[in-house]
Amino acid sequence: MLYSEKVMDHFRHPRNVGVLDQADGVGEVGNAKCGDIMKIYLKIDGDTVSDVKFETFGCGSAIASSSMATEMIKGKKLDQVMELTNKAVVEALDGLPAHKLHCSVLAEEAVKAALKDYYDKNGIAYDPSQFPHIDCAGCH
Ligand code: FES
Repeated sequence: MLYSEKVMDHFRHPRNVGVLDQADGVGEVGNAKCGDIMKIYLKIDGDTVSDVKFETFGCGSAIASSSMATEMIKGKKLDQVMELTNKAVVEALDGLPAHKLHCSVLAEEAVKAALKDYYDKNGIAYDPSQFPHIDCAGCH
């Protein structure tokens, strides 16, 4: 079977779908080649992600990746959120087909873009090298 049960479950029943009106950080990223777009909303209390929602206009793997990524960062400290990688998302989903790995990259990028937005809005200093532009050229 091409997709794991976890991928199918998160695709059919995505967690944390929606918008946070009072978001502290919003990150929107897209993949120019497939045209898919992912948006992550973070509510941050102190140094903790107290709530997270997402909107993904994209393929099933992108929806499953964003659902899983939101589950992985909810309630976590910001430094743990920074450590989220697309690899960890893929592992939590019990794998993605090789040609779908880039969909999980969108989830990592969107989470980090939302965190960066929070830092920028609040004048919180950070090391810009922690937010590299993830080049998805090899994705397709
Ligand atoms: Fe574009 Fe999956 S095909 S994110």
